[in-house]
Amino acid sequence: MNQPVMGGVATLNVPAYIKHQKLINWVSEIAALTKPARIYWCDGSQDEYDRLCAEMVAAGTMKKLNPEKRPNSYLACSDPSDVARVEDRTYICSATKEQAGPTNNWMAPAEMRTTLNGLFDGCMAGRTLYVVPFSMGPLGSPIAHIGVELSDSPYVAVNMRIMTRMGKAVYDVLGTDGEFVPCVHTVGAPLSAGQKDVAWPCNPTKYIVHYPETREIWSYGSGYGGNALLGKKCFALRIASNMGHQEAQAGGTGWLAEHMLILGVESPEGKKHYVAAAFPSACGKTNFAMLIPPASFGGWKVTTIGDDIAWIKPGADGRLYAINPEAGYFGVAPGTNTRTNSNCMASMNENTIFTNVALTDDGDVWWEGLTKEAPSHLIDWQGKDWTPASGTKAAHPNARFTVAATQNPVIDQAWDDPAGVPISAFIFGGRRSTTVPLVTEARNWVEGVYMAATMGSETTAAAAGQMGIVRRDPFAMLPFIGYNMSDYFQHWLNMGKKIEAMNPAALPKIYCVNWFRTDAEGKFVWPGFGDNMRVLKWMLERIEGKAGGTENVFGTTPNFGDLNWDGIDFTQEQFDTITSIDKDAFNEELKLHNELFEKLAYHLPQELVETKATLEKRLAA
Ligand code: GTP
Ligand code: SPV
Ligand code: MN
Repeated sequence: MNQPVMGGVATLNVPAYIKHQKLINWVSEIAALTKPARIYWCDGSQDEYDRLCAEMVAAGTMKKLNPEKRPNSYLACSDPSDVARVEDRTYICSATKEQAGPTNNWMAPAEMRTTLNGLFDGCMAGRTLYVVPFSMGPLGSPIAHIGVELSDSPYVAVNMRIMTRMGKAVYDVLGTDGEFVPCVHTVGAPLSAGQKDVAWPCNPTKYIVHYPETREIWSYGSGYGGNALLGKKCFALRIASNMGHQEAQAGGTGWLAEHMLILGVESPEGKKHYVAAAFPSACGKTNFAMLIPPASFGGWKVTTIGDDIAWIKPGADGRLYAINPEAGYFGVAPGTNTRTNSNCMASMNENTIFTNVALTDDGDVWWEGLTKEAPSHLIDWQGKDWTPASGTKAAHPNARFTVAATQNPVIDQAWDDPAGVPISAFIFGGRRSTTVPLVTEARNWVEGVYMAATMGSETTAAAAGQMGIVRRDPFAMLPFIGYNMSDYFQHWLNMGKKIEAMNPAALPKIYCVNWFRTDAEGKFVWPGFGDNMRVLKWMLERIEGKAGGTENVFGTTPNFGDLNWDGIDFTQEQFDTITSIDKDAFNEELKLHNELFEKLAYHLPQELVETKATLEKRLAA
């Protein structure tokens, strides 16, 4: 099938192993619209990866790092305007505005299609269209779903190879008529004949668009992270959350697609639990997923299933089983070092793509927080000479590394088990310098859902916009729920009821945590990172009915003596500063819950309104 694409210059050149006519027709259609100079079908091989990287080195998009320091690794630096997800440019184009809800941008699908057809017309001129087939979840597993991304960015192709199961084998699963989510991506920077390319093409106009009814994704103008690697936030969260909800709407059990890490934790006695935790972007998921217990916690082991996304379904036994749909980590570099997360550091020793970190004089990488003292000279993420006197950040605060999950030294044995792992607890956490205590256990599922629904967090560099502003970020999913948020709350409440009906003992406990309370000088009081194990251990002991705590307005919190303090100098007084509940602050907090509930009034579950009333009464008492 080597026919030229209608209206374009490229030839389709479909590999003989692809037998899916609908897929071929779709590629042909998109090529006719976008008019690339070439079409390249990715096979996912190491050869192909190496070749695409070498081409990007030649084009100036990536630098090869010193192979003695960082074998087979690269640094890519983006355009300064294209450094994070763009939430105000992200759309859920459901049939009606109510279906997208008040927390999502919405445009009528037909109107959006007209806009995008205009923008995509000829958008790949002079470039190669890469056909990137990928599986979210183990290939061929009954819970996995397939996507095909058409992108004019080779950076996207190589990152997708690390982040997903990408390549030829996907076509075996698809066969002649298997289902896939079509994902169309362009950097939006066509090249006219003879025009010289730039290292990081992108467009000031950006659109990240989802059509939940037809399960399609269209992304225009950005080459960065979640805007461009469409298997991640766009598919595995926004489209997948729709799929899980729609399945329940259609009378099925339904499932959950969540912004959650999944970890395994084994006690010295060999008892193992899996927990899933949702923290907003750049609030500690990767770090918690790779946690190294304090030296004094001899025999405790933490292992990683996933660091960012969980797909969760009830099993026949009524327990909730979770899989990590991804195959790699796209992690935050700044703040990562051998003291706070040596597992993470070890995972990026080789075969790593770094984006927007600084380059050292010996061809390695550096970022703020990697070493106590900065090197005396660097090339910063914008390609400029940098010294500690520069007064700027050498790495962008949202600089990232891309590595295969298999490079994680503490990867869990079951990390790619298609059956998933049973979840014992859900943890929700925000970044709050005040008000929210270190840890609270919900008294029941509904109260837990309320806690997650009303969670607030200070904004970070992971999304474009102002940093450090407290906003409500329900379930750490504000930018990622692909449908009406009130319906999402109801879906969570319903899932709890279904599990309870099947097996009440299987209902996971729900916790709320906050690692980020600060003192008068603005310093974090809680040591965090490995010491989060102390909180995790308390949760596990609560699950097994072995740990104490005190009931308060919001749930149950540990007393100082309920946590293990071996090997750390942490005083009761320090503990009080991060666990105290300030009534005035919480009255203010409840006003923010009110604001959220007013915004979400349409379809807001009555049970959450009642939970709030109970809390208000308790707080007033
Ligand atoms: P996304 O990939 O954006 O979803 O982020 P994430 O939730 O995986 O966050 P990550 O673990 O990458 O951490 C983000 C930043 O928070 C890094 O700079 C970490 O060093 C810092 N961090 C993580 N855990 C802790 C903690 O327990 N305490 C403190 N103080 N900082 C932490
Ligand atoms: C996040 O922002 O939550 C990320 C990075 O994990 S991105 O892939 O850009 O969404
Ligand atoms: Mn994330």
